[in-house]
This record gives sequence, C-alpha cells and structure tokens, in this order.
Amino acid sequence: MGRILSYTAIFSSLTLICTVQTAGFPSQSSKRGLVYVPNANWPNDHKIWGRENSGLTWYYNYVGYPSRVYQNNTNLEFIPQLWGAPSGYADTTFLKNVTAQIVEGSNITYALGFNEPDGIGETGGSNVRPGDAARYWITQMEPLRKLGVSLGAPAVTGATQGFTWLSDFVKACGGNCTFDFVPVHWYGSFDGMASHIADVSEAYPGKPIWVTEFGLPNAPLKETQEFLNRSCAYFDANPNITHYSYFGSFRSSVSNIGINSAMLNSNGSLTDMGSWYLGGNGTGVLPDNITYTATAGPPPSATYTLPPLATHPSAGHRPTLPSCLVAFLIIAWSWSKLIL
Ligand SMILES: *[C@@H]1O[C@H](CO)[C@@H](O)[C@H](O)[C@H]1NC(C)=O
Ligand SMILES: *[C@@H]1O[C@H](CO)[C@@H](O)[C@H](O)[C@H]1NC(C)=O
Ligand SMILES: *[C@@H]1O[C@H](CO)[C@@H](O)[C@H](O)[C@H]1NC(C)=O
Ligand SMILES: *[C@@H]1O[C@H](CO)[C@@H](O)[C@H](O)[C@H]1NC(C)=O
Ligand SMILES: *[C@@H]1O[C@H](CO)[C@@H](O)[C@H](O)[C@H]1NC(C)=O
Ligand SMILES: *[C@@H]1O[C@H](CO)[C@@H](O)[C@H](O)[C@H]1NC(C)=O
Ligand SMILES: *[C@@H]1O[C@H](CO)[C@@H](O)[C@H](O)[C@H]1NC(C)=O
Ligand SMILES: *[C@@H]1O[C@H](CO)[C@@H](O)[C@H](O)[C@H]1NC(C)=O
Ligand SMILES: *[C@@H]1O[C@H](CO)[C@@H](O)[C@H](O)[C@H]1NC(C)=O
Repeated sequence: MGRILSYTAIFSSLTLICTVQTAGFPSQSSKRGLVYVPNANWPNDHKIWGRENSGLTWYYNYVGYPSRVYQNNTNLEFIPQLWGAPSGYADTTFLKNVTAQIVEGSNITYALGFNEPDGIGETGGSNVRPGDAARYWITQMEPLRKLGVSLGAPAVTGATQGFTWLSDFVKACGGNCTFDFVPVHWYGSFDGMASHIADVSEAYPGKPIWVTEFGLPNAPLKETQEFLNRSCAYFDANPNITHYSYFGSFRSSVSNIGINSAMLNSNGSLTDMGSWYLGGNGTGVLPDNITYTATAGPPPSATYTLPPLATHPSAGHRPTLPSCLVAFLIIAWSWSKLIL
C-alpha cells in the first residue's frame, strides 16, 4: 500500500514537473478576443483575425459600430464602445446607433464605456472628467442596459490614478450609473498585472473582469513571449476573468509598444505569438522593423490565401525532455531513500 502510494506520488510529481516544464501556450479559449482597428495601408490584414478557425470569439474597435470588414462575420461578436466624450451633452449618436443595430437584429449583449478616460490623448486616452463621464453615462449607457445590454465600466489605465478616476466617477453618478463588469488595461510585467487584477477584484468584488488591453512594451522577444504565454494561461484559469484581448493585432513596423509586442511582422505574416494566440503552432516568423511601403502588403484580391495557422513547431520551443528526466531521477532517488 505504502509502496503503491509512493509510486503514485513519484508519478504525480513527475507529471507536475513535466507539465510545468512544458507549459506553453494554452490552445483556443472562448474568453479570447480581438482589439483591432483596420489599417487602410494593408486592406487584407483583417482576414487573419476574422478567419473561420481563428478561435477568437469577440472583438471591439473603439467605436459604436462594427468594422465594415467584419460586418458579415458571425464568429466574432461585436462589442460597441463609447470611446470618449461625445460632441456635447445633447449628442446621443452612440446610443441611437447601437439601438438601431439592436432593432436591426444584431446580437449586442455587451457594451464598453470610455477608453482610458484618465489618460491623455498622446497615450491613447480619452481624457474625460469623471463628472462629465457620469452625465454621458446616464444619457447613453444606462438606456442600453434597459435593453438588456451588459455594461463595462470605463476602462481606466493601470496607473493608480485609474482607481481614483473610477471612484470619482462612481461618486459623480450619485447612484445612477450601473456597470456589470470591469475592463482592465495593463502595460508592464506579468506579476504587476496579476497584482493589479487582484486589486481590481477587491475594489469591485463579484464583477467579472475583462482584460481589454494588455502588453509588455519594448521588451526582448523571449520575455514578451513568456509574458503572453503566462498571461493567457492565467486568464484562462481565473474564473473572475471572462474576456481578454491582447494589444498586438498589428504589424511590428507600426507598433507603438515596440516591435516584439506585435503579432504580425512588417510584411503581414503571423509571428510565433500571433499564431499561438490563434491556437496554432509557432511560425518561426520574427517581428521586424522593416518599413514596407503601403503597397507591399499581400495583394488585395479574393485569391489571397491566408497565412497558415500552423506550419511546424518552431525549433527551440519544445519541452525539454532531458530536464523532465533529471527531475524524475532526483525525485525517484529521494523517494527510494525515504521508502527503503
Ligand atoms: C510559449 O508557448 C509556446 C507554445 O506553446 C512555446 O512553444 C514557447 O516555448 C513558449 N515560450 C515561452 C517563453 O514560454
Ligand atoms: C456583407 O453582406 C452584405 C449582404 O450580402 C453585402 O452587401 C456586403 O457587401 C457584405 N460586406 C462585406 C464586407 O463583405
Ligand atoms: C452607425 O454609424 C455608422 C458610422 O456613422 C454608420 O455607418 C452605420 O450605418 C450606423 N448604423 C446604424 C444602424 O445606424
Ligand atoms: C448572442 O451573444 C451571446 C453572448 O456571446 C450568446 O450567448 C448568444 O448565444 C448570442 N445569441 C445569438 C442569437 O446569436
Ligand atoms: C440620480 O437620480 C435621481 C433620481 O432620478 C436624481 O434625483 C438625481 O439628481 C440623480 N443624480 C445624478 C448625479 O444624476
Ligand atoms: C476572484 O475575486 C474575488 C473577489 O471578488 C477574490 O476574492 C478571489 O480571490 C478572486 N479569485 C481569483 C482566482 O483571483
Ligand atoms: C502543431 O504541431 C504538432 C506537431 O507537428 C501537430 O501535431 C499539431 O496538429 C499542430 N497544431 C496545429 C494547430 O496545426
Ligand atoms: C531595426 O533593427 C535592426 C536590427 O535589429 C537595428 O539595427 C536597427 O537600428 C533597427 N531600425 C530601426 C529604425 O528601429
Ligand atoms: C510580403 O508578403 C507578400 C504576400 O504574402 C509576398 O508575396 C512577398 O514576397 C513578401 N515580401 C517579403 C519581402 O517577404
């Protein structure tokens, strides 16, 4: 009995170690989505993410209406966003447009609020004051909720000011704003992100979290890959997180967070990370900083074939069997000392 238990223990330890050793990229996940703004220079890049087997289930594009290129895509659920302040308090274009989409039969089940309202325009923020945001929210977001749409809180930055902005917003609402989930943006280390997400869970307990932008800017390639791998595995395993979208669906040549964050190289091919994100094997394609002219992209025609999701497992990325074996021998040896 003891001996059998011990063998079981040895075997489980081996399995655990080898699992940890080989922990690579989680395959496709229903939580995984896309943040993507079509780039007119490369009119076919959207096909890479919109393909039938991309595994991605939803997308947003920072505006209230679907990207034309995905208007007939039934795999990607569109999530509208009221990006920033409208042109005035009386401007309800967003609400009217989303309501019209619902009336026309679009399946709008979620909507996102302001994009980085605590951030300035230079860094992509929408720079809205909490008091103004509360007014816009009450006139344009709350009515959507009455139509059955779940609302994401304003997506503040990962800086400390984000928490302050959000609590000021809630105060300014005077109990008249409701949100059903909390979007999170993060640029930095994995550990920093995990700790930030724990803080958000504590500040807004019971609200699901959507990580709608995340990345490790300007880091070496291997660290960036490790960051993406760990992040996705963490999101998939954390029941508090229901949706996530990596900020990297662009070509490395136009990345504003460093070339290694991009999921496409300068010529529009999926990098390793791009392919992993779609559930494929590595492509062996590295991000690069070559500047192609606007016409250098894939030819815009119906005959354009999608880059393969998976070609070959990329060299050097496979589990290291010898290290599992060494671990096994050490464990077996320790156990034999204990047992015999
Ligand atoms: C990331 O995951 C891929 C795919 O499973 C794997 O090949 C690669 O070695 C991993 N990279 C790192 C740095 O963890
Ligand atoms: C979507 O489908 C409609 C109706 O068939 C068609 O008119 C439109 O061109 C399609 N849009 C795209 C981007 O393919
Ligand atoms: C929403 O606005 C966009 C951009 O102005 C427009 O193309 C689209 O037709 C509008 N949708 C509806 C349903 O009104
Ligand atoms: C609408 O979207 C929701 C959420 O993704 C999904 O559960 C539901 O099945 C969809 N409904 C239709 C009719 O497509
Ligand atoms: C919240 O709603 C109540 C009831 O309609 C109203 O009296 C109050 O002025 C509203 N507060 C804000 C900040 O809009
Ligand atoms: C989920 O959030 C709750 C608070 O809402 C927290 O207590 C719990 O630790 C979180 N779970 C994980 C796996 O982070
Ligand atoms: C990845 O490569 C392995 C080994 O060659 C293969 O069995 C698997 O089907 C590939 N995965 C995809 C998604 O093509
Ligand atoms: C592009 O990358 C090369 C080699 O990695 C480097 O020497 C060069 O300075 C980079 N050029 C730009 C414009 O970033
Ligand atoms: C860029 O991609 C196009 C289309 O896939 C291909 O025809 C061309 O050879 C590539 N150019 C370079 C320099 O890789």
